[in-house]
Amino acid sequence: MQRLAQALLAIGLVQAQSYPNTTNPTNSSSPLNDAQSPPFYPSPWIEGTGDWAEAYAKAQAFVRQLTLIEKVNLTTGTGWQSDNCVGNVGEIPRLGFKALCMQDSPLGVRFADYVSAFPAGGSVAASWDRGEFYRRGYEMGSEHRDKGVDVQLGPAVGPLGRNPKGGRNWEGFSPDPYLTGHAVAETVRGIQDAGVIACTKHYIYNEQEHFRQPGNFEDFGFVDAISSNVDDKTLHELYLWPFADAVRAGTGAIMCSYNKANNSQLCQNSYLQNYILKGELGFQGFIMSDWQAQHSGVSSAQAGLDMTMPGDTVFNSGFSYWGTNLTISVLNGTLPQWRLDDAATRIMAAYYYVGRDRDNVTTNFNSWTRDTYSYRNYYGKADYELVNQHIDVRAEHFRSIRTSAAKSTVLLKNNGALPLTGHEKWTGVFGNDAGENLYGPNGCADRGCDNGTLAMGWGSGTSDFPYLITPLEAIKRVVTDNGRALGSVLDNYAYAQIQALAAQVSVAIVFVNADSGEGYITVDGNFGDRNNLTAWGSGDALIKNVSSLCNNTIVVIHSVGPVLVNSFYDSENVTAILWAGLPGQESGNAIADVLYGRVNPGAKLPFTIGTSEEEYGPDLIYEPIAGHDSPQDNFEEGIFIDYRAFDKKNITPVYEFGFGLSYTTFSYSNVSVQKVNAGPYVPTTGLTTAAPTLGNFSRDLNDYQWPSDLTREGTFIYPYLNSTNLTEASFDPQYGLNYSWPAGSSDGSPQARIAAGGAPGGNPQLWDVLFTVTASITNNGTLPGDEVVQLYLSLGGPEDPAIQLRGFDRLSIQPNETVTFTTDILRRDVSNWEVESQNWVISKYPKKIYIGASSRKLYLEADLDLSEYQS
Ligand code: NOJ
Repeated sequence: MQRLAQALLAIGLVQAQSYPNTTNPTNSSSPLNDAQSPPFYPSPWIEGTGDWAEAYAKAQAFVRQLTLIEKVNLTTGTGWQSDNCVGNVGEIPRLGFKALCMQDSPLGVRFADYVSAFPAGGSVAASWDRGEFYRRGYEMGSEHRDKGVDVQLGPAVGPLGRNPKGGRNWEGFSPDPYLTGHAVAETVRGIQDAGVIACTKHYIYNEQEHFRQPGNFEDFGFVDAISSNVDDKTLHELYLWPFADAVRAGTGAIMCSYNKANNSQLCQNSYLQNYILKGELGFQGFIMSDWQAQHSGVSSAQAGLDMTMPGDTVFNSGFSYWGTNLTISVLNGTLPQWRLDDAATRIMAAYYYVGRDRDNVTTNFNSWTRDTYSYRNYYGKADYELVNQHIDVRAEHFRSIRTSAAKSTVLLKNNGALPLTGHEKWTGVFGNDAGENLYGPNGCADRGCDNGTLAMGWGSGTSDFPYLITPLEAIKRVVTDNGRALGSVLDNYAYAQIQALAAQVSVAIVFVNADSGEGYITVDGNFGDRNNLTAWGSGDALIKNVSSLCNNTIVVIHSVGPVLVNSFYDSENVTAILWAGLPGQESGNAIADVLYGRVNPGAKLPFTIGTSEEEYGPDLIYEPIAGHDSPQDNFEEGIFIDYRAFDKKNITPVYEFGFGLSYTTFSYSNVSVQKVNAGPYVPTTGLTTAAPTLGNFSRDLNDYQWPSDLTREGTFIYPYLNSTNLTEASFDPQYGLNYSWPAGSSDGSPQARIAAGGAPGGNPQLWDVLFTVTASITNNGTLPGDEVVQLYLSLGGPEDPAIQLRGFDRLSIQPNETVTFTTDILRRDVSNWEVESQNWVISKYPKKIYIGASSRKLYLEADLDLSEYQS
């Protein structure tokens, strides 16, 4: 570790960490403290299960032709900024196979021009609309495809959102695993139907930015990566749940995260990668490391890592744990050939699974420059060529982006103020969040500032805006089209001007925001994670200044998650409140659509809004913990996050999970439960096949030497050897030391199958339908509208949450029309994870369903008869 710290220092990765004044949450007497992760070997090999058979066969045929060098090239990144994309592996010129390109982000194509900025995941989650999830995925995938990207680095379901201050929560969907599970599955299908591999990330427990990686900090010195210490039940019932959905939906790649889990670095955690992901969940694609999240060579390969990103040990070190060293490890027999073959096969299987062999354009942009001609190897200043073709890949996506954003806008309060007519005599628009960033929408690198209206968070989970419609311009268009008056004050601190305008207008629309992002950028003292849950730019004071003088004040919140509304939500002068999330490029048009009733809001909160941070559970860890190299982040609250925590502690939130109003009203009636005979649950048994080896490799070290016609380009990572003496060829100073590798890690013989496994996603019987539930929903108002009908389930046991989401659908209903809500209840939905048997069981406790308009507006209920399944 010391060596790594020095290396990080050497390349200037010394970070200044900022932190709010909080007490450290970790309880040192917790049984989770210093938790250990058990070993599990060998790494399961792909077998082509589920619908992967054809892709698997094609991948095997491809990999069988490859030399050892070529296989290594497929698995090892070529180094930071060494090629067009944020991550690239080596090419296989002999077969005309171009280098694979991995590109951020979960909301669009990062570092490229003429691309769209879609609503963030945490925003579109509020639509509760599977069609929107799919369409957004498809359109994002299409844009990646047309720019020549092979792997889109998204969607994100880790962080899940354990704590609302987690800096990257907005890249994912919702702290509810069921909602997130549906969102990720549809997104993966969308991206992959467009012909691009989805990389679901970050696996797993990457719930905060502080200390996510080892580093040297100004205030603390060296601190190792944080360890998220989590028990098995919490893993299965909460954090793994959406990953299972992603695997079942066929995600071609999964990114292992920066943090440790139970004190084992994630990308070399054999339990979580081998046993859980590739074993129990039957993942058929490949595991890719987060950028510099790999901390070992052979160990990470044995623990299931298939691709290292960006390939160098630390950015631009010129060294790799793999590359040359991976070649050597197979040549000297440390790593069995079958493991490298498996990694290469998994990568190629994902490639064929999504049809990259059919619809594949050459990468036509470069992440590191917008110049048309430049160095393709930007860091190495090599390969000067046409790098940016400036291809516009946006098609007509602006239309659906606007629709999605409007469909994801939650109406939290409405005293009849909305919808506006557009004929208000004088409209006042207030707040920095209503207008332009003076540096332009992309003026701060990776959106690392909070100037102007907030339409995405900051960090790698971003794309460049092709334009950004501000709320002010969209509102102004409506008002001026009607010949009315509009004034605006965009400086939150211009008190005199704010008061002067607020005292005059007929309606005041106040925009506030709260931002967060990835920890390599600190904005206003927030090191990625939020320091608090309040609105930025003294948003509360702004609302107060306006609403104390205008009795028709409408508040719009753009934010990465919950914002405390205590100071204004119940003010009489605040006549309406909207949560507009992070809407992407069409922000202004979308909010105007809702404000002026062109769209009737139907979104529901994908999280809870409480009255204090403490209500949500344990705080983030902002400071290291004495006596521990790695801060010990004990997930003591288990599965009780967000509404489950509020319910457990009997705290009444301000706006509960699932809450959202409409301009019309709905009523619920006629619940009915139809039982489906699914038969008993059969644990998976038997043995796997033996690990296949694909082709042979030469043992003659001369075959692996640097080709005489190749010049090393900067810090580019290659698979070759520079000596026939392996000690010399390896740049590992400890090469040749007598390591003992974990028992079983090289064993390619048939292995026992895992009872809770059996197919991608887990035991396929978990998806058996046990009940079909229906209910009638009537629109009682005068406007057509959408209602997100929600089904919650009580598992009934003393350790179970009061209720958990287990069904939803967004229904469009005409006035006076009644439509039927239908949802299936799966075996998985009524099961608990049983640690002793390492399987899902249906407990003996009575189970009940509730149907309603939010997690606290439950209008219908029914019992579930599960007697024949209960143990
Ligand atoms: C690190 C981030 O954690 C990950 O999400 C991203 O895909 C990579 N950097 C590449 O930019």
